[in-house]
Amino acid sequence: MTVIQTRGLTKRYGSGAPPALADLTVDVADGVTGLVGANGAGKSTLIKLLLGLLAPTSGSGSVLGHDITAGGEAIRRAVGYMPEHDCLPPDMRCIDFVVHMGRVSGLPAAAARERAADVLRHVGLAEERYRLMGGYSTGMKQRAKLAQALVHDPQLVLLDEPTNGLDPAARDDMLALVQRIGHDFGIPVLVTSHLLGELERVSDHVIVLDAGRLLRSEETQAFLADTGVVLVEVIGAADAQQRMGEALAARGLVSRPRGSLIEIDPVTLPDDADGEAATRAHDQLRDVVRDTAADLGVGLVRVQAQTGRLEDVFREEVPA
Ligand SMILES: Nc1ncnc2c1ncn2[C@@H]1O[C@H](COP(=O)(O)OP(=O)(O)O)[C@@H](O)[C@H]1O
Ligand SMILES: [Mg+2]
Repeated sequence: MTVIQTRGLTKRYGSGAPPALADLTVDVADGVTGLVGANGAGKSTLIKLLLGLLAPTSGSGSVLGHDITAGGEAIRRAVGYMPEHDCLPPDMRCIDFVVHMGRVSGLPAAAARERAADVLRHVGLAEERYRLMGGYSTGMKQRAKLAQALVHDPQLVLLDEPTNGLDPAARDDMLALVQRIGHDFGIPVLVTSHLLGELERVSDHVIVLDAGRLLRSEETQAFLADTGVVLVEVIGAADAQQRMGEALAARGLVSRPRGSLIEIDPVTLPDDADGEAATRAHDQLRDVVRDTAADLGVGLVRVQAQTGRLEDVFREEVPA
C-alpha cells in the first residue's frame, strides 16, 4: 500500500535561493523506508512538507490519502512525528510529557496514561519515566521523542534522524526499535539519516537525496546486489598471497591485495550479456580461483562475493 506520494514536489526557502527540494517524485509503501542524504540534502524539508508544516513552492503530495497542502491537520492527527532537534521541556517528567502528547492527539485521559506507559516500556524508558527530562542523556531524549511519536497509535511514523548523537551501542538499539515499529507493529516508517550506511540494515526501501534532488529510490536489496567483485583469502607460506596474485594475473585476472584478502575484479562482459551470462562468468571466476590455488598448493580459506553498499551510490553517482 502506498502511504506517501509526491509529484514534482519543490521547496525554495527564498525566491532567489536554490531549491531545498527539487522536483521530487517518489512513492513510499509499507515497511521501513530509509531517507538518506548528507546534511542539507533536503530530508527535514521533505518531512515538514509531508506534515503540512511547510507549504510547497510547487508540485504536490499526499500522505495516507490526504493532500499535503489542504490536509495538514488530518495528516498530523494520523501520523507520528519525531523531530530532528531537541523539543523536550526540561522541567517535565517524561511520563507526564508523553501522556500530555497523547491527550493533545485526542486520546481520553485514561487511554493516554495507559498508552504512555506502554510506549515508554517499548522504547526502554520504563524505569526512568518519572525523571525530569532535563537530566536525560541524548539516548534517553531520543527514546522520549520516539515515545511521544507513537503514543496515539499512528498509522505512519516519520522519524527525523533518530540516531543522531548516539554512541554505536545506543544507535544499534534505536535501529532495532525502528525495525520493530515497521515490521512487528506493522506501522509504516519513514526514517532519515545523514549516515549513508546505517539504514541499509533496517530499511526495506531506500530513497537517496543529494542537494534536494532524488538520486535513487529502490528496494534495499537492489543497492546491496552482488558487484561481481570476488574476495579471496589464502593461507600457506608467507608469500602465498603474492604468489596467488601473480598466478591470477597469468590467467588474465586483475587483482590486488586488500589487507589479508585478495580483491579480484569482475570479468568484463559484453554489453548485451544477460543475467545468465553474468552468473556463468561469476561461477567460472570462482572455478579459476580454486584451480589456481590448487596448482600453487596454497590453501583457500574463503571465496566470497562482495556486495554493494549504500555509500557506493554516492561514490558512483555524485561528481566530486
Ligand atoms: N528555514 C530555512 N530557511 C532557509 N533555508 C533553509 C531552512 N531550512 C533548511 N534550509 C536549507 O534547505 C536545505 C535543506 O535543508 P534540510 O531540509 O534541513 O536538509 P537535511 O535535513 O537533509 O539536512 C539546506 O540548504 C538548508 O540550509
Ligand atoms: Mg535534517
